[in-house]
Amino acid sequence: PVNVKKICCIGAGYVGGPTCAVIALKCPQIQVTIVDLNQSRIDAWNSPDFSLPIYEPGLVEVVKQARGRNLFFSTDVDKAINESDLIFVSVNTPTKKTGVGAGFGADLHYVESATRRIAAVATSSKIVVEKSTVPCRTAESMRTILESNCRPGCHFDILSNPEFLAEGTAINDLFKPDRVLIGSLQTPEGKNASAALAGVYGNWVPKERVLTVGLWSSELSKLAANAMLAQRISSINALSAICEATGANIDEVSHAVGFDSRIGPKFLKASVGFGGSCFQKDILNLVYLSESLHLPEVAAYWRQVVDMNEYQKSRFSRSVVETLFNTITGKHIAVLGFAFKADTGDTRETAAVTLIRNFLAERAYVTVYDPKVEVSQMWQDLTEACPDWTLEQLQKYVTIVHDPIEACKDKEAVVIATEWKEFLEIDWQTVYNHMSKPAFVFDGRLLVDAEKLRKIGFKVKVIGRGERV
Ligand code: NAI
Repeated sequence: PVNVKKICCIGAGYVGGPTCAVIALKCPQIQVTIVDLNQSRIDAWNSPDFSLPIYEPGLVEVVKQARGRNLFFSTDVDKAINESDLIFVSVNTPTKKTGVGAGFGADLHYVESATRRIAAVATSSKIVVEKSTVPCRTAESMRTILESNCRPGCHFDILSNPEFLAEGTAINDLFKPDRVLIGSLQTPEGKNASAALAGVYGNWVPKERVLTVGLWSSELSKLAANAMLAQRISSINALSAICEATGANIDEVSHAVGFDSRIGPKFLKASVGFGGSCFQKDILNLVYLSESLHLPEVAAYWRQVVDMNEYQKSRFSRSVVETLFNTITGKHIAVLGFAFKADTGDTRETAAVTLIRNFLAERAYVTVYDPKVEVSQMWQDLTEACPDWTLEQLQKYVTIVHDPIEACKDKEAVVIATEWKEFLEIDWQTVYNHMSKPAFVFDGRLLVDAEKLRKIGFKVKVIGRGERV
């Protein structure tokens, strides 16, 4: 196999950045250049004070050790392509907004333009690795594009190497991955390329955790893993509705069910619904794939996982309105947390936006606090989510603050939308003293100790518990 000496990563986002920073850290003998078309993103990766474009625990430390040594960030895409032996394509693959497959299929135009760029500028043979999550058989399109456009004498091997890191724990996931999956054609060249990439991971990942499979299995495994993870959440959320209606407690149910070693305890926490850039997109992608393959029953099965998630968000919003005496018009609600989960500043598909939009539809006033999300990001997300509202109208109803206690001051209700640990440490007695009475807390993340809060005087409603508030 090729001895990989230089790696280029196209796409300096949530995946390309941390993944290739860790490769650089663990493989000091390999030069890693991460490129992006977005100048401000690259500037942030290069910033002298390490104010990186994404927040991820442990990331700064990794970049501090490797940047300038064998890790570089640049907008000179062509140069990095040309110098490398191996290229990761780690660009975004969002859900298509218009045209065929709109709302379901993956928008592959970023993958295609990155691939075309490789074909146009490469003057030597390369291993091209799909890191982005893509529909099954995308590697074949990449091959066709590369082979039809490359210079004479250049040969491309295409691998699939989907990324399984989770935002918020990305660095730990990359240091100790459950598995690294590498898909290749089962030809001698394909297997050689696969061995070259396995050699890179071999610098820190135990051999038995590097799985080598066929290309299509590798592509499909990523969609399958996300679909099954999201399905667990939707299953437990569906059960949380039954708990609320019967008086059962979803925490106890999860605990009991998770004790079964065939099921396992992880990822069984009820919540206001999953968010993030991947779960919904990847399931819709699977739904679209199933439909294109004339498998409507399979498509409907996976579709239901997303439908259940939407139901959970609207069910939670409705329960806030009902509990606040069936009207929240003109009332003041604090929303704690805006990120789609704790330990990230990422807001893509965050449940918080859906909740706020639903509260605004009732003309409630909303005050938001999140420890990590940029204020400008919140305004951008809210304007996109509420196309009928002007920014001025939004700013009349929504206030963004930098302190959780201030967020809750004079409010009728507090809604916990993200499971940030710091919300546990809030001085809830002070919060209570400053709220309108009765003071309600709606815990959408099973975060706080409801009994403790009730002792203070709060009326507490927790997802998946049938008790009276
Ligand atoms: P992102 O949007 O944060 O980053 C993608 C970057 O690619 C952007 O900075 C964009 O400017 C750049 N880009 C797009 N086209 C380009 C081109 N032609 N040349 C150079 N740069 C280009 O996206 P993120 O979250 O990093 O996701 C990337 C892929 O990884 C997606 O397919 C996603 O589904 C997948 N993935 C994401 C995970 C996550 O937790 N965010 C986890 C596992 C996989």
